[in-house]
Amino acid sequence: MRTPIIAGNWKMNKTLPESVAFVKELAPALAPYTSVERVVGPTYVALAAVSEALSGTDIAVSSQGIHWEDEGAYTSQIAPVMIQDLVTYAIIGHSECRAYLGETDEEVNKKARAALAHGIKPIIAVGESLEQNEAGETSSFVGGQVRAALEGISAEDMPKVVIAYEPIWAIGTGKSASGEIAQNIIGGTIRAVLIDLYGDEVAQKIRIQYGGSVKPDNMAEYMSQPDVDGALVGGASLKVDAFTELVKIAA
Ligand code: G3P
Repeated sequence: MRTPIIAGNWKMNKTLPESVAFVKELAPALAPYTSVERVVGPTYVALAAVSEALSGTDIAVSSQGIHWEDEGAYTSQIAPVMIQDLVTYAIIGHSECRAYLGETDEEVNKKARAALAHGIKPIIAVGESLEQNEAGETSSFVGGQVRAALEGISAEDMPKVVIAYEPIWAIGTGKSASGEIAQNIIGGTIRAVLIDLYGDEVAQKIRIQYGGSVKPDNMAEYMSQPDVDGALVGGASLKVDAFTELVKIAA
């Protein structure tokens, strides 16, 4: 009953002209797979042009971040009002933003609420480090991140929220979590937290993605897990063929 969602997080890749040329090639390739929600996440500078290039298609655009204030002295940041007409989604809480930009759980929560207030759907990323994983802390840590991110978000808004489980040790390393591990955390921890916070009916509507070295050759393993509703993809989303293959597998 949940529509799978495959989102490409381009990170700091592709110039503006490259981004536009890419989506012009990608859009027709992805067009047949309407049973999957398909999302691209360019850099901020390319959002307007990519959004324009994709108008008239059903491919959604995501920003790679967002601020919680409408304006102010926040050098380098982008307010929700500046992108609300360009994007459907905003990625929040990515481990790279938590690590390099110091994004805290509290900020993730403020950003998620600000996004929703501006009609932008948050893709909230969570995930543990290798050390936490090896110490057996994955479930408590990830469960805590989810609870903190959702503080004050109403049950009514929750179906607009997407959660992405991205173990940090699997990002860009080629060392992906097995389908079983992804299912254990996504079903056993994240959806269990959602049930605890919002009840079963709401929790069953919320999409939870896996992210971390997702490739065409491991995608089927994730999609066969009952609680995995798609993927947040870095490297493989930068190539038309690979991204199309992922979507095809999810369809
Ligand atoms: O947000 C997507 C991500 O962090 C995973 O990147 O390159 O391992 O697919 P990658």
